[in-house]
Amino acid sequence: MSNIAPNSSTDTAAAFLDEVRAVRRGAAALPGLEPDSYARDHAAFERLSDQRGLIAEHFAGRLAAMGDGPISVLSVGCGDGSLDVRLAAGLVQRLPGRPVRYVGIDPWPGSAELFTAKMAALGADELDADAFVASFGDCQVNETFDVVMFVHSMYYVADVGATLRAALNLLRPGGQLWVAVAPAAALNALVGVLAPPLEGHRQWFSADVEKTFVDAGIALDDVVTLDALVDLSSASDEVLDFAVQARLTPELLGPVRAYLDAVSVPGTDGGLRVPHPVDVFAATRR
Ligand SMILES: C[S@@+](CC[C@H](N)C(=O)[O-])C[C@H]1O[C@@H](n2cnc3c(N)ncnc32)[C@H](O)[C@@H]1O
Repeated sequence: MSNIAPNSSTDTAAAFLDEVRAVRRGAAALPGLEPDSYARDHAAFERLSDQRGLIAEHFAGRLAAMGDGPISVLSVGCGDGSLDVRLAAGLVQRLPGRPVRYVGIDPWPGSAELFTAKMAALGADELDADAFVASFGDCQVNETFDVVMFVHSMYYVADVGATLRAALNLLRPGGQLWVAVAPAAALNALVGVLAPPLEGHRQWFSADVEKTFVDAGIALDDVVTLDALVDLSSASDEVLDFAVQARLTPELLGPVRAYLDAVSVPGTDGGLRVPHPVDVFAATRR
């Protein structure tokens, strides 16, 4: 429960969210996103947000603190590798000649191909990169890593507890698990109302992940929130679909855009931005 006193903009946002709920009441689930349009619209969404840069900077700092020896990273739900290639480039540039193993897993073949191509384009002999086309739960990985990371992919797994345990088992002792996942805040209130269920479950957000760490008895080293902002004022309808994780019908576009305006805050340039925070959970394999 928020302890922020209601004011006119929160009341307005609540009213538009109620309008979205009213349009949906009693209706069949909206269609979800297809893998190819998901990847394309995700890329367009990220261009409107400063979040990926904040995650890249944050993870580069964590990687730099892991010493100067050979290093291995597994990125689960790597997508097209846009984030991973930045991290891999940082690793090879910081200490030239240092062996870097970098593996991605993604169920969508088009994304895994782009991950592989971007890693190859770095042209770094010391970088040994591979991608598996699979869901994490179905993927046979026969090696261990210094880092296993999930960046915005934990929403989609069937069982968060089983996933966290399997991820820890892929770490060397002393290795680190990093899970970047959004809270169910202003933007994701829309996902909660609009996104169709995924194989029988809703999308998992930060509170679900945190509770699962606790329930599984996995000690967290820290939880860091990165306060990003996204400019959805100019977003195409397809990018809005990505933001709410569902194909919006024409009658939903008005109340969804009005809700996003109402939850917006001024950005550094004075333009309106939707808060787009991400929580990073970190745990070490003992
Ligand atoms: C929001 S994207 C994040 C991509 C990338 N990590 C990034 O930050 O740009 C989520 C990715 O998770 C992948 N994904 C969905 N379900 C998955 C699963 N069960 N196992 C692994 N990856 C999954 C999707 O195909 C998609 O590429």
